[in-house]
Amino acid sequence: MKKLITSLLAGSLMATAAIAVATPSVDEVKADIEKFQAYFAKSNPSVALEDYQDGVNVLPQYADRRANWEMLMDFPPYEEWVDKGNEEWDTPFGNGKTLSSCFADSPAGNEYPYVDGNGKLHTVEGDINSCIVANGGEKEKYDSQKMARLTIAFKSKSNGQPLSVDYSSEEMRDWYEKGRDFFWAKRGQLNFSCADCHVTNAGKSVRGDVLSSALGHGTGFPVYRTKWGANGGKKPLGTIHRRYKGCNKQVRAAPFKAGGDEYLGLEVYEAIMSTGVPLQVPGQRQ
Ligand code: HEC
Repeated sequence: MKKLITSLLAGSLMATAAIAVATPSVDEVKADIEKFQAYFAKSNPSVALEDYQDGVNVLPQYADRRANWEMLMDFPPYEEWVDKGNEEWDTPFGNGKTLSSCFADSPAGNEYPYVDGNGKLHTVEGDINSCIVANGGEKEKYDSQKMARLTIAFKSKSNGQPLSVDYSSEEMRDWYEKGRDFFWAKRGQLNFSCADCHVTNAGKSVRGDVLSSALGHGTGFPVYRTKWGANGGKKPLGTIHRRYKGCNKQVRAAPFKAGGDEYLGLEVYEAIMSTGVPLQVPGQRQ
């Protein structure tokens, strides 16, 4: 027994060491981005990099539904929620301060997620919650409607700015590696990876949906989704972690916790792959 425990321990130590060694270099990440974006440039030569901000709506295979989307965008259904979020953003806490006071020294919305000087990863949702708590408020659920509205209020200030996540720190590249692993790993009863749907089969149809390309993922989030808002639905907005949960369920895999390490890694990986695609928040999706 003792021997077994010792060898298990040795095994876990080795695993830790292996993870530490596996931090990808800056050049490796750069090469990944180029390869990833070149793949989509080749499969959709008519779609410019910036256009991927509109998700599935830009794909040639979605063209017959695009007119409908464009009509919707004349009077975007999310406007009332954007207005509400902006009001909530500016509503002072009990102490008179507002959310803006916490974001004075933060990077812009298109530069999230970021790693601070202490190696800690920050997302907009996480920073909103820290701010609420620091000012005596009640923590918001990570993927609630209010959290989505507040995140939109912050991120939309940077609409049009290309995604630019800084991966110069080793900590960020460790998150990247975590997300990259998750993205390419098969899971669930259907044994699909994210890449199976959003890279290899992007543009194809699955149960009435056209699969978006992973290039651009994250640039529209939080999104307003017609399906989530249908039939008087009270939850039309979704953070990127809400979307990840839905995608895990699609392949009959148990979803992870919104705000947990698995989805944080994915968010980092997808944002870095979409470097250069401008932010367009909230996106409107079917
Ligand atoms: C069985 C196929 C399938 C798998 C596997 C899958 N998704 Fe999806 N995903 C969809 C469908 C369908 C949609 C809705 C249409 C669209 O936008 O692609 C979607 C939408 C998304 C969106 C929203 C894109 C946007 O701009 O609105 C993101 C982000 C996303 N998926 C990420 C992931 C990630 C990360 C994984 C792996 C954990 C994953 N998906 C696995 C089918 C899948």
